[in-house]
Amino acid sequence: MQKTIPVWDIWVRLGHWLIVVGILFQQISGGDAEYVDAHATVGILLSGWVLFRVLWGFIGPKYARFSSFPPPNPARAKESLKRVLMRQPEKVPGHSAIGGLAVYLFLVLIILTAFTGMSSSDDILFYGPLAPLLPSAMVSLAGTIHPILSDLLLALIGVHLIAIIWHVTVMKQPLIRGMLTGRKPAFEQEPGDSHPFSSVIFLKGLIYSLLIIGLTYGIIGIYLGW
Ligand code: HEM
Ligand code: HEM
Repeated sequence: MQKTIPVWDIWVRLGHWLIVVGILFQQISGGDAEYVDAHATVGILLSGWVLFRVLWGFIGPKYARFSSFPPPNPARAKESLKRVLMRQPEKVPGHSAIGGLAVYLFLVLIILTAFTGMSSSDDILFYGPLAPLLPSAMVSLAGTIHPILSDLLLALIGVHLIAIIWHVTVMKQPLIRGMLTGRKPAFEQEPGDSHPFSSVIFLKGLIYSLLIIGLTYGIIGIYLGW
């Protein structure tokens, strides 16, 4: 059996699957007046969660850190994409250059989508919590951009799923198992410091995630009067 090493810590994995459920809910509930309160609440919580993932990219374990991602440079990403298309696995335990770029895109797109949702208003039924702080032209622009960004997010998810299916079926790389168990093929790399059962990482992530989500919901949701 192939040797594996711990790569994705509990917060990267839990975070990933919570984002999947959250985005699914947002896509279904978006635009339905009956669910607008739930849509806004989940959207604010989701943005807090993504902000925590960004912080985790600086203070989390080795492979969660952005410093362990290949630099997001177009030439490397192109090279990395070429390798994927030619079915040559990149022997890196964390994200490849193109995979790392997709992660940055996901995080930025989710935050921008949530931000434009919070900044929009129809002046009748819905006042986003940030709308009273912004000039009316920006509020109207936010309302126009929000559905466009959520469509772009949907397109990126489509590409992500095609890429995952390609890696799993054609390139025989067990990436989904990796996102479930945290372990990936060892190659000749250093293991991460993200042992799947590390209580230190669990507690650190728990404290910071509650702090960031609490602050986001406290400031945007409660203080700004959502
Ligand atoms: C709403 C849909 C989805 C979004 C927004 C999303 C987003 C992401 C993000 C942001 C990452 C990077 C994780 C990190 O470093 O924190 C990631 C990785 C990953 N996702 Fe998704 N994902 C979605 C759906 C799925 C689904 C349905 C699957 C599997 C069936 C999947 C499988 C994976 C895998 C295997 C990785 C790790 C890739 C690797 O090992 O390099 N994703 N995804
Ligand atoms: C990443 C998080 C979010 C996603 C993926 C998302 C997605 C969507 C989608 C797909 C729609 C339907 C667009 C259409 O009718 O074509 C929508 C509408 C809407 N969203 Fe969000 N949303 C998010 C966050 C938020 C947040 C945080 C708020 C407010 C606090 C919000 C407020 C609204 C409102 C008021 C609408 C109805 C107006 C419209 O159609 O533009 N959304 N959203």
